[in-house]
Amino acid sequence: MENAGMWRQLALVVLAIGFVSGCVRINDDLGQVFRYKHPKIEARKKVMRSIAGSLKNIKIATEAGGGVGPMRKIKWAAQDIAKNARKIRGAFGHKTMSGVTTATSKVWDNWSGFTQTAGNLAASAEILAMAADGGDMSGVKNGIKTVGANCGKCHKAFRVKKK
Ligand code: HEC
Repeated sequence: MENAGMWRQLALVVLAIGFVSGCVRINDDLGQVFRYKHPKIEARKKVMRSIAGSLKNIKIATEAGGGVGPMRKIKWAAQDIAKNARKIRGAFGHKTMSGVTTATSKVWDNWSGFTQTAGNLAASAEILAMAADGGDMSGVKNGIKTVGANCGKCHKAFRVKKK
């Protein structure tokens, strides 16, 4: 009799764990269905959008030629990208999927790969900033390519594919 009670308790615990993990999954789906704007997800998207804004400004400044003014703009914007790239780790630190997101759970399943890619972005943005600081237009153009490639690498590995 003692034993039967123990097994029953164990079965209840197993059921409870199953129920809770089921709810978490349902929660994620509901968040998507109701297009819930989760504050943590919105915060990480904001980091991304500001990185994208900087890259856009860099491209615009490049079209303006290799003068001192545009080069200075490129340098500052590249430094902003580096600064924001170093925020990626913190912004994605907590696994949050319950809301409108294009991130996949691979971000957290392969956290070291993800943070390494973020580190690569920061490093490439620093190199771009240095090229701009030296007024080196071909260095700037190469730098933009590397930065852009780092965006693409991460999105390809850790984001839902575009339909
Ligand atoms: C370390 C990985 C990583 C790098 C590097 C990265 N991104 Fe992202 N980016 C993501 C992930 C993950 C999302 C999806 C976020 C979400 O929807 O929760 C995203 C989303 C975005 C979005 C959409 C934001 C929104 O409002 O939905 C833009 C725009 C973006 N990234 C631009 C860039 C640009 C430009 C670069 C390079 C200069 C870049 N990203 C580099 C991982 C990365």
